[in-house]
This record gives sequence, C-alpha cells and structure tokens, in this order.
Amino acid sequence: MKIAISGANGFIARNLIEKLEISGHQIVPIGRNKLYSIEELSVILSGTEVVINLAGAPILQRWTEKSKNEIAKSRIIATQNIVKAINGLPENKKPQIFITASAIGIYSTNTITHSESSTSFANDFIGEVVKNWENASLNLSPKVRRVVFRIGLVLGKDAQTIQKLLPVFKMGIGGKIGSGEQPFPFVHISDLVNAIFWAIQNEKARGIYNLSAPENIDNKTFTCVLAKSLKRPAVFTVPAFGLKLLYGEAASLLLQSPQVTPQRLLDEGFVFHFPEIKSCLAEITS
Ligand SMILES: NC(=O)c1ccc[n+]([C@@H]2O[C@H](COP(=O)([O-])OP(=O)(O)OC[C@H]3O[C@@H](n4cnc5c(N)ncnc54)[C@H](OP(=O)(O)O)[C@@H]3O)[C@@H](O)[C@H]2O)c1
Repeated sequence: MKIAISGANGFIARNLIEKLEISGHQIVPIGRNKLYSIEELSVILSGTEVVINLAGAPILQRWTEKSKNEIAKSRIIATQNIVKAINGLPENKKPQIFITASAIGIYSTNTITHSESSTSFANDFIGEVVKNWENASLNLSPKVRRVVFRIGLVLGKDAQTIQKLLPVFKMGIGGKIGSGEQPFPFVHISDLVNAIFWAIQNEKARGIYNLSAPENIDNKTFTCVLAKSLKRPAVFTVPAFGLKLLYGEAASLLLQSPQVTPQRLLDEGFVFHFPEIKSCLAEITS
C-alpha cells in the first residue's frame, strides 16, 4: 500500500516505517513544511491508501507563548489541513483510513482509571490542546475510516525518555519523580507499531482507542523495575521543585498523569506483547 506519514522523522514514525517497509509498503513522508498548504497536501495524499498523522512539536519543554503556540499549531492546524485535503480529494483518490496520534493527556488526573468512555477530561493547557487535536479530524469524510490513538508514554530502546534515564540509572543515581505515586501509563513501541498495523488491517476498527499497556503502574514502580533490571539501586528522588524550576508549568507532565486502560483494544482482540512493565523494560535493557 501507499502510506503517507506526517512526523516521519520522529521516534514513533521511524519505528513504524521500518516495519512498514519490511512488509513491502511504500512510504510517502509528509514534510513539516507541507502541513500548512492544503494544495500541497492534496497532491501528496492523492492516491494514498493510508494516512498516518504523527507530527507534533515536542511537549516536554519550557512552555512560553511561542512554544505553546507551536505545540498547538503543529497538531491542531496540521490535522485540520490534512483532513481538509483528504475531504477535497475525488472519491477514487481518497485514502481508506486516517490514523492519528492523540495522547492520554486528554484525561483528568483524578483517581479514575479512564477507559475510552470516560468524559472526565483535563482542562489544563495539554488537555485543551489534545481535545482540539482530536476535534480537528471530526469532520473527516465518512468514507474514510478514522482511528484515533490516545497514546501513553512510549518506551523503547531509542525512546528519548529511556536514552535520558538509562545513563543515570546505570550510575546508580536514578530515582522516582516527586512522590512517585503518579500513574505511569506506558506502552512498548513495538505494541504501538502493532496496534497501527492492526488498525490498518482490521476494517472494523474505528474511533477512539486508548493505547497504553494493560498493567497499571505508578512512577515508583517504573523506577524500581528499571533499577532492578539494571541491577542498580534507585534510592534518590527527583524533587518536584527542581522540575518546576527547570520546566515551569510543563513540570506537570512529569508530576501528574491520568490512569488509563486500553479497554477497546482488549475487547476487540488486540494482543499486547509487552502488557507488563517488567517484560517491557527487560526487552529495552537487554
Ligand atoms: N512518544 C510518546 O511517548 C508519545 C505519547 C503520546 C503522544 N505522542 C504523540 O505522537 C506523535 C509522535 O510522537 P513522537 O514521539 O514520534 O514525537 P517526535 O519524535 O518528537 O517526532 C514528532 C515529529 O513531528 C514533527 N514536528 C516536530 N516539530 C514540528 C512542528 N513544529 N511542526 C510540524 N511538525 C513538527 C517532526 O517530524 P518531521 O521532521 O518529519 O517533520 C518530528 O520528528 C506526537 O504528536 C506526540 O505528541 C507521543
């Protein structure tokens, strides 16, 4: 199949493209400069069978007016433009499926475990961005199957989080973040890639799916399992005030998180290869 992908140079897309190419698919990257021209998007997307939307400026950075604007625009406007371009294509040139990234940051960080039916949404900056990001594809032509993945923290050997944490934990100076009691909804990159394959192949798949591993853990548990798999201690704590100094408002991304369950994927028969943090980190640190 001919598959167009935005955010093609990113961590998720690199892993996805590797597997798609092995499977014989043709990849058409949507460069970030093309995301803001509906004419250019129409040319790129015409005749593709699948469109996968993975673009977005990094979220974990100090939030200024400028960076907030970039975080929002690269998701909301870019998605709106892709949808407008798809809707404008003649029927025989439209893709069959549009898959877009979303994030679990849409959910409030109360004590609920959110399945897809939860309507308890966050009303902070990220919550609003993610809601608008999802809404940006709501008026996609009904001829095109729409799949939205609310993704948890993606772990993999080449994930930035892991690359930043591994050296620290290997030195034995790793530790939990803040109280360590905040939920840690993770997903292994290969489960994420498989879920995208599953959505492409499974014609019944449509709508919103939570994409985090079935096991619910907190930051303390993640810290403990990572340290154990490296055979190192993890007695330190990264203090909340230090993160607030470093990241300002964006420190909330590390200090609080919703608890999420991938209810629909489980109900519809998707099988996670790394349903638990232990096997996930064993693969990553092997
Ligand atoms: N990784 C996670 O844990 C996670 C969790 C939940 C949701 N997500 C979402 O999934 C998507 C992909 O994540 P990722 O981890 O692969 O992110 P990533 O490695 O940061 O890659 C995102 C890609 O988006 C494009 N991009 C960056 N800044 C941009 C801008 N200002 N305007 C337009 N495009 C821009 C770039 O692709 P090009 O260089 O090809 O243009 C970049 O490689 C993102 O939207 C992210 O928010 C990720």
